[in-house]
Amino acid sequence: MESVQTLDHPLIQHKLTLLRDRTTGTKEFRMLVEEVSMLMAYEITRLMPLREVEIETPITKTKGYLIAGKKMSLVPILRAGLGMVDGMLSILPAAKVGHIGLYRDPKTLKPVEYYSKMPQDLPEREVIVLDPMLATGGSVCQAIHMLKGWGAEQIKFVCLLAAPEGLERLHKEHPEIMVYTAAIDERLNEKSYIVPGLGDAGDRLFGTK
Ligand code: PRP
Ligand code: URA
Repeated sequence: MESVQTLDHPLIQHKLTLLRDRTTGTKEFRMLVEEVSMLMAYEITRLMPLREVEIETPITKTKGYLIAGKKMSLVPILRAGLGMVDGMLSILPAAKVGHIGLYRDPKTLKPVEYYSKMPQDLPEREVIVLDPMLATGGSVCQAIHMLKGWGAEQIKFVCLLAAPEGLERLHKEHPEIMVYTAAIDERLNEKSYIVPGLGDAGDRLFGTK
């Protein structure tokens, strides 16, 4: 699929393997999600547009380049998306942060909305939606639907793990959305958990269950 990019930097893959390991505890899991998110932010900003500027160094006048284009907004899907915010902000410190609260009902698997708060100038910003897990795709499709309703036009999605089923659904419902993931896993199990996956990302991040 053209609209999916797997970020296979060795550091991302190394840390992802530690995240998958069931013996990795909450403190380390949280730190790893932050570190992987920072590395992913670095990778997805490679193609950012630049503008030429003239500056003076202490020695002479010269030309340089500064970031151009739209300002950014990060939008984590609560709860698990919160774990990715600080890592992303370490590369994109000026980004504003909106929040969308959704949880997947364990019986119906449908996303249930409970909170949202966006920056006022959202339509003028490029939006990066954050959620470690793309499973059935219900949550991210709903989040993107909401963002489009609020006027967002340029939207990307960054996750740690994607299931083929979720990618297919996202591509069908929102074909223009570019997805960046650290890995595409095999499938969903009977409870719609990603296999091999890393378990419940929110519970592992926050130490709940
Ligand atoms: C998880 C995950 C995604 C969603 C993915 O959240 O963080 O938001 O499930 O599943 P889907 O693609 O099938 O919708 P969860 O509902 O467990 O909530 P939490 O982040 O509060 O733990
Ligand atoms: N949500 C998770 O946290 N993990 C999965 O594998 C699927 C949905």
